[in-house]
This record gives sequence, structure tokens and C-alpha cells, in this order.
Amino acid sequence: MARIIVISDPHLSPTHGFFWDNWCRACEMVNRLAPDAVIVTGDLCINGPDSDAEVAFARQALGRLKPPVHALPGNHDVGDEPPGQAADQIVDADRLRRWQSVFGSDRFAFDADGWRVLGINAQLLGSGLPQEDEQDAWLDGELGAAARPVLLALHKPLFLQSADEREVTARSINPEPRARLLRRLQGAPVRAVISGHLHCHRDVVRDGLRHVWAPSTAFLVQEPVDATADNVLGILSVEVGNDGVRVELVDVPGLVPHDLAELKGHGRYKYLRDMPVCPPA
Ligand SMILES: [Fe+2]
Ligand SMILES: [Fe+2]
Repeated sequence: MARIIVISDPHLSPTHGFFWDNWCRACEMVNRLAPDAVIVTGDLCINGPDSDAEVAFARQALGRLKPPVHALPGNHDVGDEPPGQAADQIVDADRLRRWQSVFGSDRFAFDADGWRVLGINAQLLGSGLPQEDEQDAWLDGELGAAARPVLLALHKPLFLQSADEREVTARSINPEPRARLLRRLQGAPVRAVISGHLHCHRDVVRDGLRHVWAPSTAFLVQEPVDATADNVLGILSVEVGNDGVRVELVDVPGLVPHDLAELKGHGRYKYLRDMPVCPPA
């Protein structure tokens, strides 16, 4: 059996340090658990799409983790896939280049006790960028070669409630790229998809595939997108082996459950990046 810890949405910044203490506590917990690997499912930054310093800071912060770390970008790192939440922060070549120059790659593949663990850049899905085609070809290669069970990680969930929902929303992968991704996954031994982005925890099976939402370590949103989701902070323990996959929510003692709306002064600031500078203590 191999144990992987999933951390999501830490939202770190050298200028806006609201969630730095939570990050340090999460790292302490992960190092105590000493898993075989750590996956970070995106949104390492607050304003990564427009800040070299922020992406570099997030990379440096990963140095607190002792196990091998595999980080994926989210919309707060390389920008949203279109149409996105903000027209001025759509994923593009420069933003991808910034991430690549600091993190080396925006996807990964590794073996874990008879499983193949894959991570992809969700922000490319539906972007229309050449990097999307390149990633698709890479994923097809991995899935085609996969004789072993596969765990797939990415920042955004494939959908909120069901694969056939038609809403175009920044909360999940959009309908067309979702359908393309699901076609790729069909026929391959993909057992579970783990995503971040929604800042809550849910673990459901849809059409025979398990979809797990990893909670954030940073903040809660007042109204989770699904009433059945757990509105909590924390990390996930994912154990894979001959017996399948076991996912468990791990409470991290001392995490402060920051509320996003309250932090932003209930409408006073549109985005965290607009707020007065308050570096990590
Ligand atoms: Fe996030
Ligand atoms: Fe996100």
C-alpha cells in the first residue's frame, strides 16, 4: 500500500499572508504522516497569473514538505480557462511559461504500489492553446499504456452534479472539454478523479467513476456548491494498493476556518489580490 496526501488550494502569497499559518500547520501534519508522496491540486497562489514573485513564493513554500511533492496549477496560478471568472486572468502562453519556469512541469505521472498516478493541468481544458493538444496526446499515451489502476488529479472538478450538465461555469470543467476528457478516460482503468478548487469535501460515484473533492487548507466559501459537501478545511489521505483505493479526510489541528466573504469585507474588495498588503507574519 502507498499513501498519498492531497493538499489543495493553499492560496499563498508574499504580500497577502492570510493563510500562511494554515499552510505551516498543514505542512507539519503532512511531515508527521510521512506519506510516500504529496499532491497539491492547484491554487497555490492568490495572484499567480500576474505575479512572478507569488509563483516563486509558492514554489519555495513547498520546500517545507519533506515527502516528494507533485504540484498542479489552478486558476489562481496560471489563469482560468475561458470564459473564466475574470476576463483579465485567462490562461495564456506567458502565464504557462511562468509556471513552467518555476515548477518545471504542469503535469505528472508516477507509480504507487501497482497504481499509476496522473496529474494534469485543468486550466488547459477548453483553452484552445497548443499546450492543450500536447497534454491530450500525453494523457492518451499514459492511459493507453495503463494496465494498472489509475488515479487522476487536476484542479477543477469535471462537473458539479452530473456529466451531462450544460452550464458553462468557472466552478468546473466546461461541458465540451469535459466530454472530451471523459471520452479519453473511458476504456482506461481510471478508478478515481481527485480535484480541488471548490474549497469543500465531497466523495461520490457518478457513472461508475469516483469523484473526490479535496478541501482547501486556506478558506471556506459561505455557500458550498453542493449541500451534501462537507464545508471543512483539511487534507486528504489517499491509500492505494491491491485492495483498491481508500480516501480519508484528515483534520489538521489548528487550521483557522477563514471565511472568504468576511475576509473581503462582504463586498468591499472583489478579489483577495485587491486587498491592502499584509505579508505573512
Ligand atoms: Fe481555490
Ligand atoms: Fe481554483
